Amino acid sequence: MTPHRPWWQTEIVYQIYPRSFQDSNGDGIGDLPGIISRLDHLQDLGIGAIWLSPIYPSPMYDFGYDVSNYTDIGPEFGTMNDFKTLLAEAHRRNIRIILDLILNHTSHQHPWFKEASSSKDNPKRNWYIWHNGKPGASSKPPNNWQAAFGGRAWEWDAHTEQFYLHTFLKEQPDVNWRNFELQQAMWDVIHFWLDLGVDGFRLDVVNWFIKDRHFRDSPCRRWGLRPYDWQQHLYDRNQPETLEIMKQIRAIVDEYPHRMTVGEVYTEPPGDPELVATYYADGKGLYMAFNFAFLFCPWQAAAFAEAVDRWDALLGSNLWPNYTLSNHDQPRAFSRYARGHDSLARARVAAALLLTLRGTPFVYYGEEIGMRNGRIPRNRLQDPLGKRYWPFHSGRDGERTPMQWDNSVHAGFSQAEPWLPVNNDYPSVNVAAQQQESDSLLNWYRALIQLRQNEPALHSGSYQRWWVKDNVFCFERQLNDDRIMIALNFAPKERNIPLPQDVTWQTLLSTQVAKHHTLATNETHLPGYEVLIAKALSKGLNHVDPST
Ligand code: NOJ
Repeated sequence: MTPHRPWWQTEIVYQIYPRSFQDSNGDGIGDLPGIISRLDHLQDLGIGAIWLSPIYPSPMYDFGYDVSNYTDIGPEFGTMNDFKTLLAEAHRRNIRIILDLILNHTSHQHPWFKEASSSKDNPKRNWYIWHNGKPGASSKPPNNWQAAFGGRAWEWDAHTEQFYLHTFLKEQPDVNWRNFELQQAMWDVIHFWLDLGVDGFRLDVVNWFIKDRHFRDSPCRRWGLRPYDWQQHLYDRNQPETLEIMKQIRAIVDEYPHRMTVGEVYTEPPGDPELVATYYADGKGLYMAFNFAFLFCPWQAAAFAEAVDRWDALLGSNLWPNYTLSNHDQPRAFSRYARGHDSLARARVAAALLLTLRGTPFVYYGEEIGMRNGRIPRNRLQDPLGKRYWPFHSGRDGERTPMQWDNSVHAGFSQAEPWLPVNNDYPSVNVAAQQQESDSLLNWYRALIQLRQNEPALHSGSYQRWWVKDNVFCFERQLNDDRIMIALNFAPKERNIPLPQDVTWQTLLSTQVAKHHTLATNETHLPGYEVLIAKALSKGLNHVDPST
């Protein structure tokens, strides 16, 4: 019997960065009617949910991650009616909508902060984190904490003569999660969207919610590019009380059937899955916490296999994993793994890995056509990080360039000059062109997604590594009597792979071997960058070890 799993375990989530997906009103900025007009592409691709990066009113210092009203839609994205239409149109196509909720901080222009900063005795004063300067040196910040986006984490407010805390930009003051009224206001926000019918939330930087009560200094003993990286973040994030907040959010979302959360737990590259896993709170916290391991894996079968084994083992059979190759904060996978003529073949291997593992796959817009990171000239930089750290770090604009729909002007994204330049490969790398080519990357993504949906073992089965050898990663997914083997050749050269001798394997999908081809009994050749997905026709139980 196939276990009944909730949709957020069996479906594929597609992340849209709304400013860059489709502009409908000719202002060069993507919007909700634009997304509605492109739902057919997403339905065709086979995804089951959309995660929308923020669409709330915002002064856009951090492109929507600075919210000035949690329960409305930013005018550049459309209206509340547009949102309701998007929800209805998506649901009609069996596509769920996940909103990005940014609950660690608001915009400095949020009415709560305006009130809180109006006077020391304002009733909302304690909704944010205020502190006097150092005793005896009141113009000095209370401690040494640094902002993740550069500079001190404390900003002096001349009007009320205290500092306020901001983990990111000074235009993003951190809220005070130790304040009961603030908590209630946040619960209202969550209820508002769930009542409207949204299917879940991606929760921004959850591990920053609670800070040390005593505001102790961060020990400094590491080396890094920014002062933030020199510090050990013992007191400004990952405080144990944060898990209580996760549990309270869970209790609210659990009141509504078929909803979910996926939380961003920030850790320094290459990641700390042990810490991230704690935010599941044994099934009482986040439904899923993002695993960013793939964002930092070098192109080596062993690196990916180790990341998968570690995450799968950490979560066990009760908690649900997830995987992602790209997002709006890191260079796109296509560019990270690009190697001349091999780039496309590598993208196919990466996609096959993402879409055959045990765990919800998150696909970043444009990944399905092989969009590369854009090169943004300095005078067109938008991201505050790029503006601050250029040329050492050119920021995140490169992974946020407009979606490439066709070869018309601005890649079909907008009639006007887009807010970020369109990548110059768009005449050949676009959706319309790839729809026509049977062996395009887009059609490869479609085929993989379809296969995942048709084979319950692929979305719901167990995961077992067979082996990693000579840059080939081979694993099995199993559900009851169904056994599916996935062999991924990360190398450009041909490899021989051993197969269990007591089983006959038939190919389901492959980059080079024909479909429904029965594989030779004990050994198979994998051409360079080959992806081979095959199903057991008979029920052998033995696994194979290439060293024997
Ligand atoms: C994480 C988000 O993914 C990133 O884009 C944003 O800048 C920070 N959180 C601050 O909200």
